[in-house]
Amino acid sequence: MLSGGAGTRLRPITHTSAKQLVPVANKPVLFYGLEAIRDAGITEVGIIVGDTRAEIEAAVGDGSALGIKATYIPQEAPLGLAHCVLIARDFLGDDDFVMYLGDNFIIGGITDLVDEFKRGGADAQILLTKVENPQQFGIAELDDVGRVVRLVEKPKEPKSDLALVGVYMFAPTIHEAVGEIKPSGRGELEITDAIQWLIDNGKDVRPHFVTGYWKDTGRLEDMLECNRKVLESVEPSCRGTIDEVSRIIGRVVIEEGARVERSTVRGPAIIGRGTTIVDSYVGPFTSIYHDCRIEHTEVEHSIVLESTTIVGVSRIEDSLIGKEVEVSPSTAMPRAHRLMLGDHSKVSLA
Ligand code: DAU
Repeated sequence: MLSGGAGTRLRPITHTSAKQLVPVANKPVLFYGLEAIRDAGITEVGIIVGDTRAEIEAAVGDGSALGIKATYIPQEAPLGLAHCVLIARDFLGDDDFVMYLGDNFIIGGITDLVDEFKRGGADAQILLTKVENPQQFGIAELDDVGRVVRLVEKPKEPKSDLALVGVYMFAPTIHEAVGEIKPSGRGELEITDAIQWLIDNGKDVRPHFVTGYWKDTGRLEDMLECNRKVLESVEPSCRGTIDEVSRIIGRVVIEEGARVERSTVRGPAIIGRGTTIVDSYVGPFTSIYHDCRIEHTEVEHSIVLESTTIVGVSRIEDSLIGKEVEVSPSTAMPRAHRLMLGDHSKVSLA
């Protein structure tokens, strides 16, 4: 499970936090992947960690709460996906393994894929799906009979629209490939180059087409989309308190100790444990994480991270708000927006 890296497209959130821990429907993206791995019957999980190691370890611990046994493998710098295989060599031994990119989000799990790989005797199994923006992914070119002939990482002029999804299955032959390749133009040991080495050396690399939902959650819009997808099918429940004048409409999850007072929550939405919603409107496709306070505010189609306070904002939409953020009205004169924003923040004022 690859959980290092930098996460530049989600700055400023990722200046201080791991991108793999941004919650989708109040659960870190990384946990969906770890659960998919566990459900496929794999319980020994090596987690590659970088600068955000402490935070990842605090969230996953020894893995027992997720039904896995976690081993942390520190990576000195994000030197590439194949570099992750290189440094995990001792952990992996001579076993077949799944490599899962910690910011990838797949609905429907990977159990069938793992079973298929176990049956097949291939050297590698890669997952492919059609995308509209192939320049942003590793791209596979197939021949007339559907065999993979070429893999190119983020090509400027893509010859195909089949992107590599961030879940790979490998037999131990990949270690030889990783040992043979050199860093790419961007200075990384690319897994695409290692798989290309397998192809060029007559090894069996099998493509599998993903038909279900998949997303690389690298950008704000992707996070909001995943959040929508998961919220669409949550089971409504209430383990908090709702006063008599509040209205809860549709699929809404109210977690333990959350309070809703004089407010309307229109689902699908989730209100985290210990969060209070007072004199506010929470609209569809919103996830408010734990220990937040939302007062005299309207918020819709957004993700709010833990321990954030938002008071007196007429309407927030399409937003990702970090943890321990404070947004409050100002009565001081002259009337003005007074901001303290982290580097690379994005603010659009109505
Ligand atoms: O999402 C699918 C795409 O993932 C593939 O189509 C590409 O071929 C593949 O290279 C990868 O591209 P990204 O640019 O999205 O990779 P990213 O740098 O975001 O890294 C993916 C995950 O792996 C992320 O959770 C961070 C982690 N990582 C990455 C690198 C480069 C590490 O732990 N260590 C690393 O050295």
